[in-house]
Amino acid sequence: MKIIAAINYVVGFFLNAKKTRITYSLNYLNRARNIDRNYLDYIRLATLELVADELNSAKIEGSVAELGVYKGKFARYINQYFSQRILYLFDTFEGFNKADIDQEKKQHFSTGEQDFSNTSINEVLKRMPFVDKCIVKQGYFPQTAKDVIDKFAFVSIDTDLYDPIYTGLNFFYPLLAKGGYIFVHDYNNDNYKGAKEAVNKFCLENNITKIVLPDSCGTVIITK
Ligand SMILES: C[S@@+](CC[C@H](N)C(=O)[O-])C[C@H]1O[C@@H](n2cnc3c(N)ncnc32)[C@H](O)[C@@H]1O
Repeated sequence: MKIIAAINYVVGFFLNAKKTRITYSLNYLNRARNIDRNYLDYIRLATLELVADELNSAKIEGSVAELGVYKGKFARYINQYFSQRILYLFDTFEGFNKADIDQEKKQHFSTGEQDFSNTSINEVLKRMPFVDKCIVKQGYFPQTAKDVIDKFAFVSIDTDLYDPIYTGLNFFYPLLAKGGYIFVHDYNNDNYKGAKEAVNKFCLENNITKIVLPDSCGTVIITK
């Protein structure tokens, strides 16, 4: 992973130096845009930026949230593009829950072995450009959502595992504003097969259609 991060950093450096852009379709936003050398998933970030502009321009009301924050590298952009909105940050900040891992192994969805415990709320909040808009919900989801009474315009679900993805969709979709978006990461990621199972079960049960992205971990988008 360190080698990939280093390659991304170097590639990003040269792309920025040459002012190379993969697409011109974001030029209409008419603002300076730099490639993030520490997070080279152009499709995921550019899609978020476009969706944020759609929601903000159409004045779709609601807060935003990420379920599965880890170090906050994606949440940092949610906070930037939705600078006027409350951002809920849901995570244990201690990695996966043991009951979820046991379930993953039982269903042969994933090994559940990836370690996401090397983070802290402090580290995450330091990344946020509009930290006053952030509400941290630390602990096991859905328990941490019990006192959340709000409406959402945008939600990113990135918990990797079947159970919190399925529970997350059932929690957030009814609270999603009309015109709002939910991104679910890892839909087309063979290392986390439960993501696709959870999304497809939820969409089938609720008669919802979806759009898949060719970003690095295969995000799927659902809307209302
Ligand atoms: C892949 S990481 C998130 C990466 C982050 N969204 C990004 O793009 O940089 C997955 C995170 O989901 C969290 N997570 C998984 N299941 C959870 C649950 N039931 N409750 C709270 N957090 C959970 C883990 O602690 C981990 O930090």
